[in-house]
Amino acid sequence: MLVGHGLVYLIICLASSVAFIYISFGDLAFQFMEKKMSFVGREGAHFLVDGTPFYVNGWNSYWLMIQSVEEATRPRITAMFKTASSLGLTVCRTWAFNDGTYKALQISPGLFDETVFKALDRVVMEARRHRIRLLLSLANDWKDYGGKVQYVKWAWEAGVGLSSSNDSFFFDQSIRSYFKNYIKAILTRRNHLTGIEYRDDPTIFGWELMNEPHCPSDPSGDTLQNWIEEMANYVKSIDKKHMLTIGFEGFYGPSSPAQKLLVNPAEHFSRLGLDFIRNSKVPALDFTSVHIYPDLWLPEGTDEEEKIAFVSRWAASHIKDGHNELRKPVLFTEFGLSSKNRNASDSLYAEFYKHVFDLIYKSAKKKGAGSGSFIWQLIEGGMEEFHDEFGIVTGEKPSLRKLLKEQSCRLGKISHRRRWAWRSTEKGC
Ligand SMILES: *[C@@H]1O[C@H](CO)[C@@H](O)[C@H](O)[C@H]1NC(C)=O
Ligand SMILES: *[C@@H]1O[C@H](CO)[C@@H](O)[C@H](O)[C@H]1NC(C)=O
Repeated sequence: MLVGHGLVYLIICLASSVAFIYISFGDLAFQFMEKKMSFVGREGAHFLVDGTPFYVNGWNSYWLMIQSVEEATRPRITAMFKTASSLGLTVCRTWAFNDGTYKALQISPGLFDETVFKALDRVVMEARRHRIRLLLSLANDWKDYGGKVQYVKWAWEAGVGLSSSNDSFFFDQSIRSYFKNYIKAILTRRNHLTGIEYRDDPTIFGWELMNEPHCPSDPSGDTLQNWIEEMANYVKSIDKKHMLTIGFEGFYGPSSPAQKLLVNPAEHFSRLGLDFIRNSKVPALDFTSVHIYPDLWLPEGTDEEEKIAFVSRWAASHIKDGHNELRKPVLFTEFGLSSKNRNASDSLYAEFYKHVFDLIYKSAKKKGAGSGSFIWQLIEGGMEEFHDEFGIVTGEKPSLRKLLKEQSCRLGKISHRRRWAWRSTEKGC
């Protein structure tokens, strides 16, 4: 019996070591895969990967998570990444929030829908599979997908909100706690497909506190500045591996000299509680951002020449600030032209996109702070419901496809591991 026992023991032993080897090997395989993607970091006003420069030709598709919930729409995520990959795009900016609305990720403060979280996990894994990184935004100033209005409503309903002002998102302590809990839940989420916590995943390029925060109730800018400092430090207390930015459009505010205020598209943009230089200087922030919307911001009837001139002034001014004042990279995280009153043959389209790409390329060539751009916004065919006046199906715009590819090619030549980032279409360069 002793022998029998020994044999049984041996068999158990063997079986468990096979299982052990299998598990370790699986783990090892994943670690090996992990090694192939490094975190993007920065040194002064430049992004670096493995010690070499990284310039971004990126895009926005805010809808990835919600479209990943249902099986019927899920293929759109893979299709989008495939399209982007074929154009050499390397970073996608997308929403990592949906508060209290249809298919909400956060149903109520601190309560999450696991199905939607799994959908976000899938987006992260699919991005990785296509060698694409994600710039993830954590909240919205607009009411779409919940936004600050939803947080204020929650606090009001719970009887802990002090004010019904939508800006109490920024100054109310209870709401700040709600948002901090949210930040912590996202950053420490363990991806159910890869086993990696978001804060440890190099697929994530960086975090954005909020899409286009505005706090017009305090035009001095003190409220927003205080909120940015607190939230940025909080993110960094949980995640020191990823870069962080605010997520705003780049409007100059009260601490800027009069000359800078004139660069704003109109006078009232300086009273939104934003202050580009002051806000961007917060030490916990790694890079800063600019959005570019001549159609939305300039007075109706502004002619096309003036629109292009505005784009030049606006972009050049911020790139210069990034280099001289901030020593931080500057990304154009949204830029687009409205399709209202315009048709596909409108010559401004080609001129506008090329102009923005040129500004980034020229800056990168002379080692300036201009480090990349993200077109607003790419969708796939058959997504009419997401077709805002800025939506683009690249398949329908051959001239834009060509421009995007050319930008990927020329940025690729001065970027990190060209071969790696531009695998699938390098032949096209
Ligand atoms: C807050 O924003 C919502 C949506 O934009 C708006 O309907 C509401 O009137 C605002 N509330 C206050 C108190 O301004
Ligand atoms: C559309 O394009 C044509 C030229 O092909 C131009 O004459 C017309 O004015 C354009 N319409 C609008 C609304 O821009």
